[in-house]
Amino acid sequence: MRVGVLTGGGDCPGLNAVMRAVVRKGVQEYDYRFTGFRDGWRGPLEGDAVQLDIPAVRGTLPRGGTILGSSRTNPFSVENGVRLIEENLAKFEVDALIAIGGEDTLGVAARLTEEHGLRCVGVPKTIDNDLCATDYTFGFDTAVHVATEAIDRLHTTAESHMRVLVVEVMGRHAGWIALHSGLAGGANCILIPEQPFDVERVCDYVESRFKASYAPIVVVAEGAVPRDGTMVLKDDSLDSFGHVRLSGVGEWLAKEIEQRTGKEARTTVLGHTQRGGTPSAFDRWLATRFGLHAIEAVHDQAWGSMVALRGTEVVRVPLAEATDGIKTVPPELYQEVSVFFG
Ligand code: F6P
Repeated sequence: MRVGVLTGGGDCPGLNAVMRAVVRKGVQEYDYRFTGFRDGWRGPLEGDAVQLDIPAVRGTLPRGGTILGSSRTNPFSVENGVRLIEENLAKFEVDALIAIGGEDTLGVAARLTEEHGLRCVGVPKTIDNDLCATDYTFGFDTAVHVATEAIDRLHTTAESHMRVLVVEVMGRHAGWIALHSGLAGGANCILIPEQPFDVERVCDYVESRFKASYAPIVVVAEGAVPRDGTMVLKDDSLDSFGHVRLSGVGEWLAKEIEQRTGKEARTTVLGHTQRGGTPSAFDRWLATRFGLHAIEAVHDQAWGSMVALRGTEVVRVPLAEATDGIKTVPPELYQEVSVFFG
């Protein structure tokens, strides 16, 4: 059996750990051969492939990014995309495909399996931790660590200058990174996409923090929206899955705070630092377990399935579940954390 592997969508720490586990177990226990497709769905679409064997994955466990490269290519928006993929899989004699990605990459794998009979198994990833089908995705824990460390550092400089520091973190539709890092980093206010915010309320929190002789830290997810406004976009461009580019709400908010309170406010946008660098121990553990279970799913011919974490167990769920909706922060959890605001 020859198995193709690809990593699609935004990269995230732990992708290499998944592939290392897939290849190690696949070669050692089942005598499989592997082909790595470059840059997500672009690889099988254009026939861009490399050999993936044990030497190729050696030493990659702590390495961030993906040795195969990634892209947001959508084969369904390319003319004859499915036919090209089928031709290239046949050319490289690939019998099955492991797709490692978020809702877009896995959504393509689900459609290829259901509508075209391809033999796909999925592995979920996203630093946003917003896939319904799994309790946690790898990459999230690392992103939270990066953001928490940044918030810790920002406290001391904010105190020295007694100014407001707004920290913008990733999180398009779900505020998990903001919530976890904001709580762990002792932020005075956390703003998430699920809860449109009132700027006046944020300013009240800022004022009350200054009254207590401390400098406020406001953590805002890039997808957070003011109650009386719209999402702040970087520009008008869309990727091939139709997603807008975010970032800008932090800058906008700092200006509003300055104007309304008269206090100096600055913004730090953490951006891709949250996606880069070495994965945390938890993410290496989870990614490795996902890889081991994914190759087992291939061995069991469980086409159209995806590995997922439920509690502490790695289970198999239908690939289609990956696109079943976004896992958002429940209002009661946000409410629980809000005791620390102000
Ligand atoms: O989906 C993961 C994610 O990191 C989002 O949090 C963020 O909005 C997006 O990717 C950024 O994508 P890109 O790197 O393609 O701009």
